Amino acid sequence: MKWNLLRVALAALLAWPMSLAAEPKTLVLSHVVSPDTPKGKMATMFKTIVERKMGDRFRVEIHPNGTLMDDNEAVDAIAEGRIQFAAPSVSKFEAYTQKLKVFDLPFLFPDMAAVNRFQQSPAGQSLLTSMTGQGIVGLGYLHNGLKQLSANQPFEKPQDLAGLKFRIMNSDVLKKQFQAVDATPVPMAFADVYQALAEDRIQGQENTWSNIYSKRFYEYQPYIMESNHGVLDYMVITNAAFWQSLSDEDRHHFQYAIGNALGYGNAVAKAKSTNDRGELQAMPGVNLIRPSRADLADWQAVMKPLWDEYAPAIGEATLRAAQDAAAASL
Ligand code: SIN
Repeated sequence: MKWNLLRVALAALLAWPMSLAAEPKTLVLSHVVSPDTPKGKMATMFKTIVERKMGDRFRVEIHPNGTLMDDNEAVDAIAEGRIQFAAPSVSKFEAYTQKLKVFDLPFLFPDMAAVNRFQQSPAGQSLLTSMTGQGIVGLGYLHNGLKQLSANQPFEKPQDLAGLKFRIMNSDVLKKQFQAVDATPVPMAFADVYQALAEDRIQGQENTWSNIYSKRFYEYQPYIMESNHGVLDYMVITNAAFWQSLSDEDRHHFQYAIGNALGYGNAVAKAKSTNDRGELQAMPGVNLIRPSRADLADWQAVMKPLWDEYAPAIGEATLRAAQDAAAASL
């Protein structure tokens, strides 16, 4: 009897620490590109740092390539607190704010230094908190790069795109940008683009060197113009209620992890942009079109009127801050 009691007491004692230790909470990070891209690598670095510092309490589960959801769904899922982290393109917030349309204006940012300058300015930083009331907190910006135009047939002038169907991210500005050259914009999730090109449902698209290369769009887009006409950057976002529920110490650790992951991701973006452009240029069958100054002026003349059209929606002060940041690069 005495031994039985002792055995029960011993078993209870051994089970004690186990019952106290809670399982780490799983945090979901959804994105739509490959792991071997600036965003994919940023996500892995974020997971590594979070789990190194707080692995007893948090695990980060990364879902790449749009396998869990596309970006428009991810923005809704963040707002509703169904997932904790995402890093959609800044073009994918149209349902939540008009201010981010500033990033879609064609030919506004001449280079990535200008984009960065604007993002780090007070106006750029204030955009991170512009959707807090709708449940979305911006934690920082991640670069991918400037967008290039591509098509399945030769083109040089804006009128050469007339009648072609171009895939776009679902953005009003991007829609008008292609309508301005008499092309037909087709909003489509990133994960569907390759197949749509293969089936000739679309004849063109716009994206960065890194995305054109990593998703093999070039297989159906042998003509790529170095147009640098727009920017594809990301905002890393989280759910506002989740963010507020964290202790100050944990929030600080997450901020540290994001800061470091973004620094790393931005360095990868810069290197990949140069590298992937070089890979595409050297690829047999790919024709890199380098527009002359005069040709670029033609493209700008038809697309830049969108700045005035969207200034009221974006806000004059935000647009002016972006123009100032751009002017410092000219
Ligand atoms: C991405 O880079 O996250 C995808 C952007 C796109 O939809 O073109």
